[in-house]
Amino acid sequence: MTPVIIAGIENEQENFDYTMAELASLAEAANMEVTRQFKQKLERPIAATYLGKGKAEEIKTAGAVTDSQILILNDELTPTQIRNLENITEMRVLDRTALILEIFAARAKTKEAKLQVQVAKLQYQLPRLHTGLTDKLDQQTAGNAGGGYTNRGAGETKLELNRRVIEKKISALNKELKTIDKEHQTRRKQRQRSGIKTAALVGYTNAGKSTTLNGLLRLFGETENKEVFEKDMLFATLDTSVRRLRFDDNKEILLSDTVGFVSKLPHQLVKAFRTTLAEAANADLLVQVVDLSDDHYQEMIETTEKTLAEIGVTDIPMLYVFNKADKLAVSYPSLAGRELTFSAQDDESLKALAELLKQELFKDYQTHTYLIPYAKGNLVEELNQKATVLETEYLADGTKLKAEVAPALAGRLSEHQLD
Ligand code: GTP
Repeated sequence: MTPVIIAGIENEQENFDYTMAELASLAEAANMEVTRQFKQKLERPIAATYLGKGKAEEIKTAGAVTDSQILILNDELTPTQIRNLENITEMRVLDRTALILEIFAARAKTKEAKLQVQVAKLQYQLPRLHTGLTDKLDQQTAGNAGGGYTNRGAGETKLELNRRVIEKKISALNKELKTIDKEHQTRRKQRQRSGIKTAALVGYTNAGKSTTLNGLLRLFGETENKEVFEKDMLFATLDTSVRRLRFDDNKEILLSDTVGFVSKLPHQLVKAFRTTLAEAANADLLVQVVDLSDDHYQEMIETTEKTLAEIGVTDIPMLYVFNKADKLAVSYPSLAGRELTFSAQDDESLKALAELLKQELFKDYQTHTYLIPYAKGNLVEELNQKATVLETEYLADGTKLKAEVAPALAGRLSEHQLD
């Protein structure tokens, strides 16, 4: 673990303790150990140095005492602020954006996620090209501990590229992403046409979205090779995975897991991950997984909602499910209105969640009784596949079925409807 110091500016605009605690977890997620924390009360950052000079001097001393060579700030800084702070503190200075970009880069697994992170990093680099800082720093810090963490972006895409080359590269990467996105769009359209209901798990990083999806898959899905990656680490999931779930009563849904959110998520990243997040934007229902055992869960809900608004997701119905109840002295699963308190590691909880999902997703379904003539056996087949058949009876003039059906199918079957 690389020893680092973190520092931020406290003002009226945000919950300082929360975002600093978050910054410390982000540093941990990047294999860094926070040795000291500094804060300064300021209405807004100082244009030239972000922190005051005195504070920066204090940090320099602390850096020497604790043997910390990296300083991480709680905001995105201008290139000048970074350069000046580096000069005063004689430490490598990273801002919050660069740190998050590094974590995303390390976590990206699929081609799409890798491309998206690369685009975000290049966009972060672009306005920072003319400072001359990059060359200087590279000479200074070559071989230093924690050398992988730079505020300039990925090693292979930095110095040799001038602005034009970077812009070209961004557009080439975006082109590649567009092709991948087209494939996703086609699949989404097919799903929409099939009328299958979709729900997307959203929420703060590490809330338990992947554990919830895997738990439901284990209970109701076809699990083989299909589990998604879950781990006690920030941003374990950077890819949207869509999985099919078939419940006991034949109802089927698609459930997707999405990238987790954190406050002040760099806008370059939000933009780059827009296509991944499109899965959430096109869902019939959003299921916000909240880690109830975290003291900051209210802020985490706000953060999630702010980020969703940023990607234009504002009008999809949302269910709140409060996870990790096992870590608290509360009984679970328990449902209050539409809010479920549960544990993603508990089967009874997952069953309660499945019921809630069904209730919400299929509330427009209608229950009718039909008499389908034997000559139209294909309709019986369709009902068995797409509807929840509650009763079947074979009569002289056809098959009598009582079933819960989607409005569209109910419309097509209306001539055979008995009630
Ligand atoms: P990101 O991929 O970072 O967005 O995280 P996520 O929301 O998908 O969280 P994930 O499912 O990976 O879970 C994060 C950690 O919380 C893992 O270590 C899980 O084992 C743990 N966890 C999830 N649900 C529960 C729960 O109900 N109780 C307890 N005690 N731990 C849980």
